[in-house]
Amino acid sequence: VGGVPQNVTISQLAAHNKRNDAWLAIRGKVYNVTKYMDFHPGGDDELMRGVGKDATELFNQVHAWVNYESLLHKCYVGRLVYSDSNSG
Ligand code: HEM
Repeated sequence: VGGVPQNVTISQLAAHNKRNDAWLAIRGKVYNVTKYMDFHPGGDDELMRGVGKDATELFNQVHAWVNYESLLHKCYVGRLVYSDSNSG
């Protein structure tokens, strides 16, 4: 992964659900948080709760004010798309 931003489907997102291969989506943007895992102030177990899925609601419940776009800009993968026919 890396380089050109891609469209990411729900099922592609769901495939990256491990501590050493961890993607999550917030507000329509998909991030690879594998490298952020060790730096998350809430710990890796907490961050893992959102991995492999659309973590928007969870993120908003815990700390909607956190500037994830700035913190994760190097981890950006692409847009979350809701149709599996568009695997970009
Ligand atoms: C803090 C959970 C995602 C950045 C925390 C804390 C929890 C938590 C419980 C509080 C830790 C404490 O005060 O002891 C989660 C969960 C996530 C998630 C369940 C799943 C979606 C993220 C993401 C980012 C992030 C994606 C940004 C890249 C932070 C920051 C803090 C924090 C900066 C410190 C906030 C502060 O002290 O004001 N998180 N987090 N978290 N998290 Fe997350």
